[in-house]
Amino acid sequence: MHNVIVNTDISKGKINKNIYGHFAEHLGRCIYEGIWVGEDSPIPNTKGIRNDVLAALKNIKVPVLRWPGGCFADEYHWKDGVGPREGRKRMVNTHWGGVVENNHFGTHEFLLLCELLECEPYICGNVGSGTVQEMSEWVEYMTFDGESPMANWRKENGREQPWKLKYFGVGNENWGCGGNMRPEYYADLYRRFQTYVRNYGDNKIYKIAGGANVDDYNWTEVLMKNAGWLMDGLSLHYYTIPGDFWLGKGSALDFEEGEWFITMKKALHMDELITKHSTIMDKYDPEKRVGMIIDEWGTWFDVEPGTNPGFLYQQNSIRDALVAGVHFNIFHNHADRVQMTNIAQTVNVLQAMILTEGEKMILTPTYHVFDMFKVHQDAEVLAVESAVGSYEMGGEALPQVTVSASRDAEGKVHVSLVNIDHAGEAEISLDLRGFAAESVQASGTILTADRMNAHNTFEQPDAVAPKSFDGANVEGGRLSVKLPPMSVVTLAIH
Ligand code: AHR
Repeated sequence: MHNVIVNTDISKGKINKNIYGHFAEHLGRCIYEGIWVGEDSPIPNTKGIRNDVLAALKNIKVPVLRWPGGCFADEYHWKDGVGPREGRKRMVNTHWGGVVENNHFGTHEFLLLCELLECEPYICGNVGSGTVQEMSEWVEYMTFDGESPMANWRKENGREQPWKLKYFGVGNENWGCGGNMRPEYYADLYRRFQTYVRNYGDNKIYKIAGGANVDDYNWTEVLMKNAGWLMDGLSLHYYTIPGDFWLGKGSALDFEEGEWFITMKKALHMDELITKHSTIMDKYDPEKRVGMIIDEWGTWFDVEPGTNPGFLYQQNSIRDALVAGVHFNIFHNHADRVQMTNIAQTVNVLQAMILTEGEKMILTPTYHVFDMFKVHQDAEVLAVESAVGSYEMGGEALPQVTVSASRDAEGKVHVSLVNIDHAGEAEISLDLRGFAAESVQASGTILTADRMNAHNTFEQPDAVAPKSFDGANVEGGRLSVKLPPMSVVTLAIH
């Protein structure tokens, strides 16, 4: 038996809806085919953006979208991607598969996508191979309302009014593909580049500095010490990789129980990373003004056999869904510092929401978790105390159940629970403090499967899909919840 207390009357602050953010890079079939098909495509589209993907993403209320990379960002020169499409430069996407990048999806197309999705754009600028002038002019091009060389060029290219742009990243992974820099050097470059990321008119930019890889705590220390007061957010990247990054990450579908266990262990590691990086940030920013922006996270497996190794295409199973649920519970419980996260990536790359094959599209188990958890967006995170039993393998123990809870603007309480055990049920006694016990009613949705690698295919698109959950009953003023093995549940408490 696992015991959980949800204090429905103790709020710990707001879950920034941007925790449900996304990341779409010029990588493999994410942008081209996954999002952009072009206006002349037989695939139904709105000004070149495919309608089926748009509708699916609107349904999960994508709050913010990061673009154009990733590693691509520090090789991207934005001027190649504006103006008449037929005249745009064809270049090589050196980082991802060496394929031709025709620049048909550029600044205008990305900002149109964000308008259609009604989400905030988050643009990542080029520090690694770009110039201060280039970055500064990009911001001027997008946001300056008046007469200036870049604003005039924007108007010539068909956009009279400036866009609103809030989130801007000053480089990506500058310790690696973004220039192989030392933190001291990048901190100085950040200070210099961000100076010219201007606020024009009433457009106020939230500046995000390139942060650490996994547990590189020194990077966070140096950045906060030398540039903390000049940033609004500091990023962190951490991927859940069951194997070894270079020697073999593991297959998305062909894995045994031991690999399931390691995957859950590595997903849970996110909690320690946030705690330790936050502690360093607290030293320089005790008011928690600077947001932690986890702008790349998710599972990273070996590519599907027979696919381009540079395209990072992987299938997505119930295991991925649990990884997503575990992450969201962690993010909610760190909502005081974590202000945005962006899963990698939206379509056809890594832990995707959506997979496409020509005109066909399927939703992944991860998509369904985003759908089930969207009730937490902008809700008040509630204080939760839990005493949970363990899930054990090979002498190691993990907490079998993770949990988080929130209260929305209408006063409705939502509790999300994840049972990471691949074989064992979890019986939970849920005490809802602050709710009149006799009046408690709960309804819920569950995502589960009977095989560890259950997944959706183009032939069976609904093999893993949410169902209504009837495993919660009121007993003696408490809610008794029975979670099947490998399940994610969101309860709505009335
Ligand atoms: O998401 C794939 C890649 O992972 C990104 O381009 C890079 O930032 C990270 O290493």
